[in-house]
Amino acid sequence: MKNDFVWWRDGVIYQIYPRSFKDSTGSGIGDLKGITEKLDYLSDLGIDAIWLSPINPSPDVDFGYDVSDYCAIDPKFGTMQDFEHLIAEADKLGIRIVMDLVLNHTSDQHPWFKSARRSRDDSCRDWYIWQDADPSGKPPNNWHAVFGGSGWEWDSETEQYYYHMFYKQQPDLNWRNPQVRNALLEVFRFWLDKGVKGFRLDVFNMYIKDDLFRNNPTKLIGRRPFERQIHLYDFDRPELMGVLSDIRQVVDAYADTYVVGETFLGTPEKAAGYCGEEYLHACFDFNFLESKYKPQPLLKAITEWENALGGSIWPNYVCNNHDNPRTATRFGVGEDDERLKVAAALILTLRGTPFLYYGEEIGMRDIRLKRSDILDPIGKRYWPIYKGRDGCRAPMQWNAEKNAGFSSATPWLPVHPDYLKRNAENQTEERYSLLNFYKQLLVFRKTHSALIYGDFQVVSGNSPHVLAFKRSYAGSTIMVILNFSDKPHEIILPEQIADYSIAFSSIERTPKLLKENSIGLSGSEVLVLVKH
Ligand code: NOJ
Repeated sequence: MKNDFVWWRDGVIYQIYPRSFKDSTGSGIGDLKGITEKLDYLSDLGIDAIWLSPINPSPDVDFGYDVSDYCAIDPKFGTMQDFEHLIAEADKLGIRIVMDLVLNHTSDQHPWFKSARRSRDDSCRDWYIWQDADPSGKPPNNWHAVFGGSGWEWDSETEQYYYHMFYKQQPDLNWRNPQVRNALLEVFRFWLDKGVKGFRLDVFNMYIKDDLFRNNPTKLIGRRPFERQIHLYDFDRPELMGVLSDIRQVVDAYADTYVVGETFLGTPEKAAGYCGEEYLHACFDFNFLESKYKPQPLLKAITEWENALGGSIWPNYVCNNHDNPRTATRFGVGEDDERLKVAAALILTLRGTPFLYYGEEIGMRDIRLKRSDILDPIGKRYWPIYKGRDGCRAPMQWNAEKNAGFSSATPWLPVHPDYLKRNAENQTEERYSLLNFYKQLLVFRKTHSALIYGDFQVVSGNSPHVLAFKRSYAGSTIMVILNFSDKPHEIILPEQIADYSIAFSSIERTPKLLKENSIGLSGSEVLVLVKH
């Protein structure tokens, strides 16, 4: 193993949605002390960093993604001392903290916005994006909000429109104003001084909008008006690069730090273009997450991502996050977890940083809610076409006790009813559980540098159901073979399999040695071979 371990490149990052991880106070909402209590679990799992979805004070119109104070902790999650304690305790276990910074917009309850909407002459007025109505009183241009409707909200007090890319309670900041830019760069310093090691930037590619507020061109295809626009002017503006390089300079003044950006409506090329030594360390590309559970589309997403990054920028892979149905719901069959082992093996053996999402390791399924129980406002708005994001945000299933051991009070979202069987405690005991599979694979990854630093070469077999690839580094080679079919498949590999031995399999295999270059795989089998 290289001795220059770079945590964000060589390690594994685990996303926690704090509301749903562990409630230590009996409020029904997860909190920071709850996360600290569970650090041993995370350390046993084998992760290197925690990305916390927003923990700043928020009126929760968008559950934390509407911030009313960037330099404080929301009291429902605890105190600043609790946060400092979490950083210190995590550090003892070699776990870094990555914060989610939501800097495209604030809450409308942020003092900056409250001040800005007081009058046109307010000192904070230009911290947001204000425009006059067009001559007929309509919004100044055709920009739409992601969450529906026009992106412009009329402010009757001051008789101008303000711009919001998401809900109207999330007014967009004016990053073109140097005072805003400085204030936001100070936010990075504030948390870096506390010992935070990384940041996930929410929709960073929306920070800068067209200075002339030109209309977006429209197209015919797309379900909603937002999708029927070509977003030339409301995001991905060239001046963004200057902002990213300012951020990078601030962050680089601190050791071992990292910034990963959420590229909104990104393509692999776009996401890659925002990365580099002067810009962000990494960006997310969601093609992989959006792929079907099939070797060809997954391989296409991997190859396009690798090609776009061009070798010098480090890839990352995400299967689950707080905005999308979980893999267990997308790929799983009933309560069976074998396909999830295939997905886990893929994300943990690819060339790039794996991002895991709490509960993924025990195969948590999305909860299903009645319309009246939906909390996510976009779910309320678009039901039944789109049911929102509550499904993937349910409380972590710790054990078979009341409320799955998440909280002594009624949780803010219901616990999935399968928690009596599906929970972390049971899966720790069960030898072949998904949780133990993740743990074993994470240990294997840590101890086989080819899986971290090795190149990525596809091995062409002869089954469309199987994805096989090799990772080679410093004279050692590992071959990963994944059967995406639930049925057994025989594959013939184009090289002498006798040179390899089985290092890891999702089923019991005897003997451990392979002789021919053909392998009979069981349904949904994961097979990892090491070349001797
Ligand atoms: C992207 C976040 O992932 C999502 O949860 C949020 O609603 C929007 N940005 C707005 O901040």
